[in-house]
Amino acid sequence: MQLKLKLTIASAAAAVAGLAAAQDVQVVKIGHVAPISGAQAHYGKDNENGVRMAIEDLNAQNVVIGGKRIRFEIQAEDDAADPKQGTAAAQKLCDAKVAGVVGHLNSGTTIPASKVYNDCGIPHITGAATNPNLTKPGYKTTYRIIANDNALGAGLAFYAADALKLKRVAVIDDRTAYGQGVAEVFKRTALSKGMTVVDEQFTTDKATDFMAILTAVKAKNPDAIFFGGMDPQAGPMLRQMEQLGLGNVKFFGGDGICTSEIAKLAAGAKTLGNVVCAEGGASLAKMPGGEAWKKRYDAKYPNQFQVYSPYTYDATFVLVDAMKRANSVDPKVYTPRLIQTNFKGVTTTIAFEPNGELKNPSITLYVYKDGKKSALN
Ligand code: ALA
Repeated sequence: MQLKLKLTIASAAAAVAGLAAAQDVQVVKIGHVAPISGAQAHYGKDNENGVRMAIEDLNAQNVVIGGKRIRFEIQAEDDAADPKQGTAAAQKLCDAKVAGVVGHLNSGTTIPASKVYNDCGIPHITGAATNPNLTKPGYKTTYRIIANDNALGAGLAFYAADALKLKRVAVIDDRTAYGQGVAEVFKRTALSKGMTVVDEQFTTDKATDFMAILTAVKAKNPDAIFFGGMDPQAGPMLRQMEQLGLGNVKFFGGDGICTSEIAKLAAGAKTLGNVVCAEGGASLAKMPGGEAWKKRYDAKYPNQFQVYSPYTYDATFVLVDAMKRANSVDPKVYTPRLIQTNFKGVTTTIAFEPNGELKNPSITLYVYKDGKKSALN
């Protein structure tokens, strides 16, 4: 009887201790949004993997904020690269009271979603959306940790004019916030460098048949095509350029076409060798922690790397770094600390301009040599 009583007391004490330990751990949700379905799902998966990897690494560090051990969890949403689904996903994350958001991927979804986050007071950091208009409203909840399209579009036009001495360029865009914006910057800079824009054509981010517009472009005899858009269009466009005898025409584009996937989507077309694309950061080889990080990523997520996962990884750490400095996971308390960020990430040392743009952004140009993406600088 006495023994049984002792055991009962001991197990009750253990249960109380267990409860206390459980209460000391606070779950903090980080939202992520990108296209996980549809033709751009490979970009979204890569971005989400970056956040998942950051959360695993953070949880292994046993982070303590406000006297509590924090366990981070991802709330992953899919916006299918669609602006309406983007704002719906943003509202869902607001309602779920996530502490912060990494996303979105597309400028077309990120720009309208940024207003939703501002209205509900949750910060978001994009590691992928590059349209300069994102930071124009001056929301204190919007941050970007890559270069924007002013840098990408201009860098490509300088390279076309100065290094390759190209004269005649045709411009095609997909009419999204990203495609239209980056094409506009390229065009403006190309004209200022004395190049001639011989044709302008438009498509959508759903199209896969470009024979009509490429035939029109061919008639203008360009040295190069600039395409503002993503790889589900750029891949078939390269194949159709080959079919139409545009095999000697250079093919320029921003970060949206600078993926591993484009090599697959071009399906052996030799025109892949004419691609010059630009990304808003250093190459993996030149990032402070790039190569070692990529090895770990590839071990966890084989054959899924595209472009932005190092940035979404860093974006997650930047949110948590601000929480640590504020000693709070409450967005109202820690968001004002984001602007003071000085964080040594995998991609670079991250600090922000007053408008939420990355300080000192760099860009890297790439070509595809024997089907493999390789950095020019
Ligand atoms: N940089 C691309 C965009 O802004 C992904 O949509």
